[in-house]
Amino acid sequence: MSVSIRQFGGRIPLAMVAIRPARLFDIPDVMRIERESFREDYPRGVFLVFLENNPDTFLVAEYNGRVVGYVMGYLRPDLEGHIMSIAVDPAYRGNGIGSALLTEVIERLINRGARYIGLEVRVSNENAIKLYERFGFRRIKRIIGYYADGEDAYYMLLPAEEWGGRN
Ligand SMILES: CC(C)(COP(=O)(O)OP(=O)(O)OC[C@H]1O[C@@H](n2cnc3c(N)ncnc32)[C@H](O)[C@@H]1OP(=O)(O)O)[C@@H](O)C(=O)NCCC(=O)NCCS
Repeated sequence: MSVSIRQFGGRIPLAMVAIRPARLFDIPDVMRIERESFREDYPRGVFLVFLENNPDTFLVAEYNGRVVGYVMGYLRPDLEGHIMSIAVDPAYRGNGIGSALLTEVIERLINRGARYIGLEVRVSNENAIKLYERFGFRRIKRIIGYYADGEDAYYMLLPAEEWGGRN
């Protein structure tokens, strides 16, 4: 029997959330969360190829046997650890799961040699921007028309030496 999050008053105990590398069988759940979170709708092949190339930095959050979030990070040749996508199931947001995924992927990318962690975010995505700024990311530049629908992105960076580790 699955446990309803209402049993916890709408809050999930983070101790019951496991952050682990994604596996092939997680891809349908990851794609469901992606469709519920973004206007872009990447084909399955994008996730499969990403997983094959970045098995240690494509992570999922599992709660009660269910995938409730994911983050996709990779190390670029210029030693920027780039976060390609992060999302949490809308029903599970605001419980610290996004922060836990972000923390784990940053640590893994820095351990693999990243000097910076970088990402793009929609300029209208205030929740995510606030979250990144709390982690120490700074807005480096605005990329005009970055998204397919014409919206601009902020390119945000966190230097590895400013990463204070897990709080
Ligand atoms: C950004 C995102 C991954 C954060 O995940 P999350 O699990 O809600 O993150 P956290 O619980 O760690 O909280 C992050 C902040 O979101 C805000 N928040 C609180 N409740 C929230 C809710 N129900 N929904 C969204 N954000 C909420 C708070 O500012 C919170 O900060 P706090 O720690 O001071 O409370 C998630 O909102 C999401 O999937 N958004 C849609 C996809 C997206 O925009 N991804 C980023 C693209 S660059």
